[in-house]
Amino acid sequence: MRVVIARDYEDLSKKAATFIAMEVRSRPESVLGLATGSTPLGTYKELVRMHRKGLDFSRVVTFNLDEYYRLAPEHPQSYHNFMNENFFNQVNIKKSNVHIPDGLTSDVDKFCAEYERTIKQKGGIDIQLLGIGRDGHLGFNEPGSSLGSRTRLKTLTEETVRDNARFFSNPDDVPRLAITMGVGTILDARKLLLIASGGAKAEAVKASIEGPITSQVTATVLQLHPHVICVVDEAAARLLSRRDYYTYVEKVAATVQENAHI
Ligand code: PGA
Repeated sequence: MRVVIARDYEDLSKKAATFIAMEVRSRPESVLGLATGSTPLGTYKELVRMHRKGLDFSRVVTFNLDEYYRLAPEHPQSYHNFMNENFFNQVNIKKSNVHIPDGLTSDVDKFCAEYERTIKQKGGIDIQLLGIGRDGHLGFNEPGSSLGSRTRLKTLTEETVRDNARFFSNPDDVPRLAITMGVGTILDARKLLLIASGGAKAEAVKASIEGPITSQVTATVLQLHPHVICVVDEAAARLLSRRDYYTYVEKVAATVQENAHI
């Protein structure tokens, strides 16, 4: 696992966007797994800036991690709306290449199986962007989620409902259920890119990167994946025991890269 410690949120966003842009430049038809929440906002802003300078999304295919159950795509707090506002409407992505779970589906099991099939049909996800909850969730895979789980309907914990209430004018309106890719679905992506910012995420980051693998903190499965990059800012990295080593590794990697160009 590669752990990149960013100076602050802006630096984190630039670094995360750069990893995604590298993927898109090397394979214009890349399949991107995307995430919502406060943390990726800066990453999308940076990708939009890169697009204005020529980064092309016309052949890119996307799959979002999750969507609230029973929230219409037009609802201001839906993840459909979040993605349109903060990313899709500002780049040249084809709407037919965008996939987000349908919170209004009348047959959840059928829809979820189809979502999994479509990911496979498109060749699998090349790089999956991930935020992390304070409880260590990935997507809406709350503590106790099977580490082999696939896309399905999940019940949100009280903590997650409270955390997400800040986006809703009435906290009682926060949906209690969501359709989310499973932990197993996420692990199938070729690369994982986790971003975490702020002291409130420090414990979850510590547990996920350095703790024992457990379904109680679903992000600990990152340790099983062969190609993970965690970009965390100073505040979120605060509790990492091996942070000096992670910083040293990045320095050595930069030197090796520089030498490779000589
Ligand atoms: P946040 O959410 O980026 O809004 O903190 C992350 C998550 O819950 O996955």
